[in-house]
Amino acid sequence: MPIAVHAVTPFDDQRPGTSGLRKSTRRFMQPGYLQAFVQAILECDPPDPGATLIVGGDGRFFGREAAETVVRMAAAAGYARVKVGRGALLSTPAASNLVRATGAQGAVILSASHNPGGPDGDFGVKYNTASGGPAPESLTEAIFARSKALADWRVETDGEIDLDRLGETRVGGCAVEVIDPVTAYADLMESLFDFPAIRGLLASGFRMRFDAMHAVTGPYATELLERRLGAPAGTVMNATPLPDFGGGHPDPHPEHAPGLMAAMTGPDALDFGAASDGDGDRNMIVGPGGFVVSPGDSLAILTALADRVPAYAGGVAGVARSMPTARAADRVARALGVDCFETPTGWKWFVSLMDAGRITLCGEESFGTGSNHVREKDGLWAVLFWLNLLAAEGVGVRELVMRHWTRFGRDAYRREDYEGLETGPAEAFMQALRGRLDDAAGRASGPFSVVRADDFAYVDPVDGAGAAGQGVRVMLSPDARITYRLSGTGSSGATLRVYLETYLPPERADADAAADLDALSATSRAFADVGDLLGREAPSVVTG
Ligand code: G1P
Ligand code: ZN
Repeated sequence: MPIAVHAVTPFDDQRPGTSGLRKSTRRFMQPGYLQAFVQAILECDPPDPGATLIVGGDGRFFGREAAETVVRMAAAAGYARVKVGRGALLSTPAASNLVRATGAQGAVILSASHNPGGPDGDFGVKYNTASGGPAPESLTEAIFARSKALADWRVETDGEIDLDRLGETRVGGCAVEVIDPVTAYADLMESLFDFPAIRGLLASGFRMRFDAMHAVTGPYATELLERRLGAPAGTVMNATPLPDFGGGHPDPHPEHAPGLMAAMTGPDALDFGAASDGDGDRNMIVGPGGFVVSPGDSLAILTALADRVPAYAGGVAGVARSMPTARAADRVARALGVDCFETPTGWKWFVSLMDAGRITLCGEESFGTGSNHVREKDGLWAVLFWLNLLAAEGVGVRELVMRHWTRFGRDAYRREDYEGLETGPAEAFMQALRGRLDDAAGRASGPFSVVRADDFAYVDPVDGAGAAGQGVRVMLSPDARITYRLSGTGSSGATLRVYLETYLPPERADADAAADLDALSATSRAFADVGDLLGREAPSVVTG
């Protein structure tokens, strides 16, 4: 078999972050760069005899070339079969589903999620294992170590691959199957939710839009919402995946979805709006008046009402949220008498809990929600869950949220990001913050005083895997919390994220929380000396 062996001078910057390896597209296109990382993956998790690999991505620039490279390298490494999405497309949750449904050994997902794409944007590679979930940290660390010690990478040069034609060809000893990326995922969704009820809702004059942001969810949403559920053509906006996402920022955030937000405001506002991100794992839910459901609330509401949905009619085994995510789900879990786990940031930490049957639902403040139907967060799943609930309860988005707050109270939430920092000073800032935790208790600032402060460390209750230094948490009285951590998904420099949440009891649930959050923001700046230590007067992005 013609396998070409290319010598490589190892790279030293291939440590995967919160969600895979993410770098500028230009870095990834440097000769041997993608190949070195893929070779490290293939050597750290070598194919079992007869093994299948799933390959696909979010459609961004360089994705097709990268997919062909991954297929040829997988063939050279001894994979018996590779299933690759047509056009090199596969959403992250669809890839996770395919791993599980086909008993594949893993998936290589070519995506930098919500980061802009194109030659001047970002590219990324994620590796998921046989459970369908993101590789655990033990494996990503092994891949990083391997990438620094690599001698060469190997590629099968035999055989043709036409990523646009469904069907099977041979690449060396490997069967390469180009598959329809949508059908299996759409079938899975149809098995989970009450499609007749959602169809009834959509036929009753209920008006909605889904913004695919010219990213991967376009074909999935068109199949599900317009074809299977009967929503009118045009319900899915920006439905065609484009290599540069149409010049947009494929992040389901009000700022990046102006067309959707316009349709959700004004006298003729629609009943429901939603958006997903580059690779289809995030979701934003919007009600009339541009009412954006906070992701922490969304997780809590889905948990509280899960038994309205066929797939979860038996109730939830437990729930989990990443540490900086609002504690709204904890309140629901207490009421239901089930566990609520607090994990480090990043979906990989939910996987062992799902595999062990300890949790059914989980979510993150960063517009991520999901369940044990796959091992990734899932944007369209969340949208269908919301539509199913609105159909079952016969109320609108805002009413559903208000009902929840009236019962459980409200965890008002905001995230402030300080972007474009230099790595050294940002790390020094976190060090300084850690240095003042021991004597923090009792410190007062504005209306708040510190009850307790720590640096979050986690021990996985299933497999004992540990993670320290996951972010500084400051618990306050009255009931509020500030979390500080550095982003692990940037492709250069550093971003400080400051997460603010304050509890409003049911009687104050519909109050304007802006003043409470402003006060908490001032406390967050004073407690950590953000102005002096980082030289920043204000955050660069505020969400919530
Ligand atoms: C961000 C989010 C995190 C999410 C990740 C991947 O990571 O904060 O919740 O899992 O993107 O979508 P960060 O940049 O904060 O490390
Ligand atoms: Zn994503």
